[in-house]
Amino acid sequence: MAFSLYRLHLFLLPFLALIYTTESNLSKDYYEKTCPQFSDTMEKIIVEKQMAAPTTAAGILRVFFHDCVVGGCDATILIASNAQGSTERDAEINQSLPGDAFDLVVRLKTALELACPDTVSCADILAVATRNLITMVGGPHYEVLLGRKDGLVSRASDVEGHIATPYMPVDKLIAIFASKNLTVQELVTLSGAHTIGFSHCSEFSKRIFNFNSTSQIDPTLNPNFAQALRKLCANYTKETGMSAFNDVMTPGKFDNMYYINLQNGMGLLASDQALISDARTKPYVDLYAKNQTAFFDAFARAIEKVSLYQVKTGKDGEIRKRCDAFNNAKPTMAS
Ligand code: HEM
Repeated sequence: MAFSLYRLHLFLLPFLALIYTTESNLSKDYYEKTCPQFSDTMEKIIVEKQMAAPTTAAGILRVFFHDCVVGGCDATILIASNAQGSTERDAEINQSLPGDAFDLVVRLKTALELACPDTVSCADILAVATRNLITMVGGPHYEVLLGRKDGLVSRASDVEGHIATPYMPVDKLIAIFASKNLTVQELVTLSGAHTIGFSHCSEFSKRIFNFNSTSQIDPTLNPNFAQALRKLCANYTKETGMSAFNDVMTPGKFDNMYYINLQNGMGLLASDQALISDARTKPYVDLYAKNQTAFFDAFARAIEKVSLYQVKTGKDGEIRKRCDAFNNAKPTMAS
């Protein structure tokens, strides 16, 4: 029995390696010789941008996650649609990704191309910008291994089924995360990203205006919170930009308040609030609500794991000259 399990393990190894790139392909000091200015240039521009536009941190974190779970952390979410077709960025779920996040990447890439041409990948830029911004708004610091290449395929049609949506039941959330080799605990941990940023009223309007035939308001919502949201979103169908903070108590700070909010019925999205109603996820919500260190440690490990998901190296990718176009992109009508 032990022997056959061992053989099975050997058989599976190459496939497992395909899912999460082994750390040996990437390294901590990848740009040390080829672009010694890498870290300082990144830090300077990120700080400037975040000071000028404080919603950038949340925007980048969401862009990074949406990039990684669709075909790996390969910056294919940055590719603009062109004559060849509609790209990941234009999939319906990605249309709400904020311009400030994309703007930051353009600034970083421009500066790095001047300092060290054709050297730093957009995928590494996105991974490091995400880490630096999480830390800058109060979250944990973690290691980002470098050497990702930029992906060569970006199709809007590849996105569906890889990204969770707010009215999915917990079973479905667990299944989507499991399809990325992420555990139930990692689902709860990574959802803690909603400690920053905001959501448009349309993403939770059903919970406050037309929940079901007997109640307009989702009974799992704190009643005062629900009334405040109804007021805020009263005209959301006309004012489509109306949004609420994901963490109403400490919206710009990366902390464990998200989990305390869930305990108080103040989770904004149905998928947030559901995490405390399900016996598989509730223990982690309670743990993180009372222990921020446990949350930070787990978040750092989980996002580090995400940042290695299906990473491209060697000939499987390229170093793009600009982050919104493949190097071999044919000119479009507009350009
Ligand atoms: C568990 C399933 C999840 C669902 C259903 C979900 C859904 C959403 C939705 C609907 C929004 C609002 C978008 C808008 O209206 O503009 C949002 C925002 C956000 N999500 Fe998630 N999300 C999930 C997990 C995650 C994970 C794992 C991360 C990152 C690790 C993440 C990071 C963010 C961030 C940072 C924002 C705020 C974006 C901003 O302010 O620009 N989410 N999410």
